[in-house]
Amino acid sequence: MLKTELTRILEIQYPIFQAPMAGGPATPRLAAAVSNAGGVGSLGAGYLTPEQIRSAVRETGRLTDRPFGVNLFVPEEANTPKEAIDGMNAYLDRYRAKLGVAPGPSISRFAESFEEQVQVLLEEKLPVFSFTFGIPSREVIEAFKQRGTFVIGTATTVEEGIRLQAAGVDAVVAQGSEAGGHRGTFATSAADALIGTMALVPQMADHLSVPVIASGGIMDGRGLAASLVLGASAAQMGTAFLTSAESGAHAAHKRKLLASQEDSTEITTAYSGKAARGIRTEFMDDMRSYTGTLPDYPIQNALTRDIRQAAAQADNPEFMSLWAGQGLRLARDQRTAAEIVEQTIKQARERLSSIRSQ
Ligand SMILES: Cc1cc2nc3c(=O)[nH]c(=O)nc-3n(C[C@H](O)[C@H](O)[C@H](O)COP(=O)(O)O)c2cc1C
Repeated sequence: MLKTELTRILEIQYPIFQAPMAGGPATPRLAAAVSNAGGVGSLGAGYLTPEQIRSAVRETGRLTDRPFGVNLFVPEEANTPKEAIDGMNAYLDRYRAKLGVAPGPSISRFAESFEEQVQVLLEEKLPVFSFTFGIPSREVIEAFKQRGTFVIGTATTVEEGIRLQAAGVDAVVAQGSEAGGHRGTFATSAADALIGTMALVPQMADHLSVPVIASGGIMDGRGLAASLVLGASAAQMGTAFLTSAESGAHAAHKRKLLASQEDSTEITTAYSGKAARGIRTEFMDDMRSYTGTLPDYPIQNALTRDIRQAAAQADNPEFMSLWAGQGLRLARDQRTAAEIVEQTIKQARERLSSIRSQ
């Protein structure tokens, strides 16, 4: 029971993926712990330099001999005029002043080079490569596949899933609107792609021949069982692992997760210029009154970085990005990643057999 196409292909024990979570939470320790427990752990490497990626991949490889993944952000064109960037940079000085950060930083580079990040991953011969925010070139996807790497794309609509399958991916994450973190939407507007996991997964499963991985709001065995019944081959869980012992999430982020509920999150573009779901903060509320043009991702992300970092250092969650999914009232403290995997599997088995026996 609980054997699926993906557990067979990847030769893993359980159909559970730990979501890649860039920005600190998905450490080598967390990814390796999930893989060692029989699922697939993942590093969120989108913001890392190529050398940071190499050392994180090697460290994870030292901690587990099971399959694990690394996730990158597919770059996109940012079309923000210079005046809009300068206007936002000046506006953000009010938060910098509050947090004791120098005003008006000059930022020469908004994101790491995707090509260089990919190059390191190709050299390191990864078991699993996943990506979000778009589709890399056919050459990149083929290069991974030729090295035996299993390639996973992220879709928030069936149309995106169809495009990913046509581009040659081996599996598709169906990211429902409940999901914490950035929306992977790339073929339509983020506002039009807020399809709940319950509606998205079966429609994706009906239209794709590659395996579908359900994601968004899945916190325990009930969510896993539901995902499999809806036609998914595995569940990808992010928020559930954020409060695990091995998670690298900031203590203030963990505290807020454990004190929040299903209506505490909101989708915002204020932190990065791209739609993402997180726990509501003073920064999100306050940025609503900004009347200028909000710079595109990754520009806005780079502009707010010093504010987020200073807030983290000051243990002030109100100016940090507290990404979280809508299932967050189910988040629990003091569990190891292995316990989360084991309890999720146990509960899914119990639920499925109790339904069958009725
Ligand atoms: C803190 C955090 C960071 C995330 N970072 C990434 C990322 O780097 N790459 C990615 O593909 N998805 C990222 N996601 C989204 C997850 O892959 C996944 O869709 C989401 O966690 C599922 O919803 P859940 O949080 O309700 O389980 C992130 C999610 C969270 C909560």
